[in-house]
Amino acid sequence: MKISVIGAGNVGALSAMRMAELKLGDIVLVDIAKGIACGKGLDLEDARQILKTNYNIKGSDDINIIKDSDVVVVTAGLARKPGMTREELLAKNASILKDVCLNIKKLSPNAVVVVVTNPLDLMTYLALKVTGFSKNKIIGMGVSLDASRFANLIAQELNLNVTDIVPVVIGAHGQGMIPLARHTKVKGESLEKILNKERIDSLLKRTVERGAEIVSYLGSGSAFFAPSAAVAEVVKAIVRDEKKTLGACAYLNGEYGIKEICIGVPVCLGNNGIEDIIELELSDSEKKDLLNSANSIQNLLRQLSF
Ligand code: NAI
Repeated sequence: MKISVIGAGNVGALSAMRMAELKLGDIVLVDIAKGIACGKGLDLEDARQILKTNYNIKGSDDINIIKDSDVVVVTAGLARKPGMTREELLAKNASILKDVCLNIKKLSPNAVVVVVTNPLDLMTYLALKVTGFSKNKIIGMGVSLDASRFANLIAQELNLNVTDIVPVVIGAHGQGMIPLARHTKVKGESLEKILNKERIDSLLKRTVERGAEIVSYLGSGSAFFAPSAAVAEVVKAIVRDEKKTLGACAYLNGEYGIKEICIGVPVCLGNNGIEDIIELELSDSEKKDLLNSANSIQNLLRQLSF
């Protein structure tokens, strides 16, 4: 398996490291900024003797290195800078993604693409349209990270192991996310049966704000340890054909009553990428939240041209 990571910044380099250590395949790291991918590639190579593993990793400034990849992870893009509006960020990252996706189409026409760059749901849609790949081959990583954050906060609140929690988050990645308390299980029981509404609401709010909380501590840049773990989880499910159910941003064509956008829903992941979209039974208010989240994505999509 050849796995390429485009963008060797915080999320890209750490994703490459995690995937190499999990021995998911031969890893390629590429970045437009001169030297960064090469330097990080050499550094990661030097860790092999200490770790007693023989993974293969190569860094390059030349996008041609991604040729014939089985999986391509896209982390190339900018984070919002002071004074930059979301719309400006959207336009900037859309132009980077467009360029990157044309290269993926040309060099790795059979790859499964995992999009990470924000705004995630829009960039996933753009990747689908620009590559023209089938919808199962374009996956956005977003709500699985949100779900892991939700689980972490629930475990702390209940003083349990995080592994006792099976969290479910759907919707847009970011402010529009919908952590589903009713579908989230704590030792097999619905979270709604374990905590009262007030405590659940506080957990939901903290989950939605978790990314911004991390950014405010970091000062510049955004989270990368948990995001890279989430990337490796998605890629592992694909390359090992795990048929694993995970939350991911997928193109919907009528599922959940939603059409023509990419949004976070539970999916089954395997060698073919998204092998199935799982339709949860939603209450009226959960459905309404999901449609609102979908509408906010739809409104932003109108600002994109490609
Ligand atoms: P970063 O700034 O550390 O790295 C981005 C890298 O992309 C830079 O090294 C830059 O040189 C490179 N780049 C820019 N244009 C490129 C091009 N055309 N070709 C190749 N490389 C290019 O940023 P970080 O922290 O790694 O985040 C990357 C993206 O991932 C951001 O958009 C961020 O918002 C997003 N993100 C998404 C998450 C999710 O859950 N979906 C979680 C965390 C970050």
